[in-house]
Amino acid sequence: MKTVLIKDLKDYEGKDVQLRGWVYNTRKVGKIWFVILRDGTGLLQGVVVKGESSDESFDLKQKLNQEDSIIINGCVKKEDRSVGGYELSVKDIQVVQHVSDEFPISPKEHGTDFLMSNRHLWLRSKRQNAIMRIRHQTARAIRDFFDMNSFTLIDSPIFTGNAVEGTTTLFEVDYFERSAYLTQSGQLYQEAGATAFGRTYCFGPTFRAEKSKTRRHLTEFWMAEPEMAYVELEENMVWAENLICYVIDHILKICDDELNTLDRDTVLLKAVKPPFPKITYDEAVEIIENSGKKFNYGTDFGAPDETLISQNFEKPIMIHNWPSDIKAFYMKRNKNNNDLALGFDMIAPEGYGEIIGGGQREDDLDILIDRIRHHDLPLEPFKWYLDLRKYGSVPHSGFGLGLERTVAWICGTRHIRETIPFPRTMSRLEP
Ligand code: 4AD
Ligand code: MG
Repeated sequence: MKTVLIKDLKDYEGKDVQLRGWVYNTRKVGKIWFVILRDGTGLLQGVVVKGESSDESFDLKQKLNQEDSIIINGCVKKEDRSVGGYELSVKDIQVVQHVSDEFPISPKEHGTDFLMSNRHLWLRSKRQNAIMRIRHQTARAIRDFFDMNSFTLIDSPIFTGNAVEGTTTLFEVDYFERSAYLTQSGQLYQEAGATAFGRTYCFGPTFRAEKSKTRRHLTEFWMAEPEMAYVELEENMVWAENLICYVIDHILKICDDELNTLDRDTVLLKAVKPPFPKITYDEAVEIIENSGKKFNYGTDFGAPDETLISQNFEKPIMIHNWPSDIKAFYMKRNKNNNDLALGFDMIAPEGYGEIIGGGQREDDLDILIDRIRHHDLPLEPFKWYLDLRKYGSVPHSGFGLGLERTVAWICGTRHIRETIPFPRTMSRLEP
C-alpha cells in the first residue's frame, strides 16, 4: 500500500493508502469513533467503524492517547466538513508507540514560559507548525530572490576576530591562545565577496549579547546579508524594497493555509508593493514631534518611536541619512553633510519595528582608518578589511534582513521567540 502525506490526500480520493503519524485527538460518537491524525503536513480525521475496520483496530477505541505514534491504512474520502476536506475510512491501525505519560501540552491554555521550556514538544502544535512553515518559505523566497538576481552565496565565518556592530554586544569565546567573537554580522566578509563577485550574500546565524529582554531581541538570530559593488544608497534601498515585495508575494501565494491558521489579517500584507515611502531621519523625528511626543534629536529610535512613525504609513518605510554618531564605523558620510551617514533602516508596518538595517559603506581608506580609530576599535583585526579600500575600491552597499523579525511581521506574532525553532535569549539556553 502506498504511504502518502496528509497534504497530498486530494490526489488519492477513493484509493487505499497508508498514513504515518501521531494521534492528535480522538472522539467517540455512538457506535463509531474518530481519530485525528497529525503527520506534520496536516491533520486528518480517520473514521473507525465496527465491521469496516479490523476488530483489533476498532477495539483501540478510548485506548489511544495524544501523541501515540500510529500507522493507519484506509480509504480516502472527500468530506467537506472534515479538517483538510478529506477523511479516511480506517481499515487498520498499528500502534508504533503507546504514550503512557500524559503529553505535557494539552489543548488547554499554558503559559508561554511553560511552553518555551517544552519547545521541543510545542513545535508539534498547529500554530507552531504554521509559523515554522512560514519561516521556511520566507527563507526560501529570500534565497530564490538572490539566486535569480545573480548574487553568489558567500558564507561568512561565525568565529571572527573583530566587532562589526559595536563592542557592547560581543560574545567572546576562548579560541586557543586568544579570543574570538561570535559574528554579529557577516557584512565585512560580504564586502570582500562583492569586490570578488559583484553581488554576493550570506544567510546564517548571527549573535548579539543583547542584555535586553524585549520581544524583538534574540541573542542568536538569522540574517540575510546581500552586498553589491557599484551600488549607492538609493539603489540599495530599491534592492531591499524588491526583496521584501518578492518575499511577501511568495508567502501570500503559497502559505494561505498557514496564514489562516494564524488568523492573520492579510490586508496590509497585500498592500506591500513598490515603491515604499522613503524619509530622512530628520523627517522621522518631525513625525514623532508632531504627534506631541518629545524626542532627543541625534538618538536612535526606540520601539515605541518606530511604531509611532510606521502608523503614518500602510507600507514598510525606509528611514535614511542618520546622524553618523549613532551608526557603525563603516558607514559612508553624506558628501553634503558630514554629520549624516548613508545608512537606512526599513520599518515594518503594524508596529513590528526594524526588519532591515543597511547602507552605503565608506570606501576611502584614510577616512575608514579614521573611523575605526574614532570608534576605539583595534586596527590590527581590520587589516584585511582595509585592503579592500586599497585594491580597486568602489562605492558599494548592502543590508541585513533579520529573518525572525520579518517572520514575526508576516505571521502577526508579537514576540519573535516563536519565529525561530529554538530561541536563544538572555535567560534561555534550553531546549
Ligand atoms: O541593523 P543591524 O544591526 O545591521 C547589521 O548588522 C548590518 N551589518 C547588516 C548589513 O548591512 N549587512 O541588523 C540587521 C537586522 C535588523 O534590522 C534586525 O532585523 C535584525 O538584524 N536584528 C535582530 N534580530 C533579532 N534579535 C536581535 N538582537 C537583532 N539585532 C538585529
Ligand atoms: Mg539596525
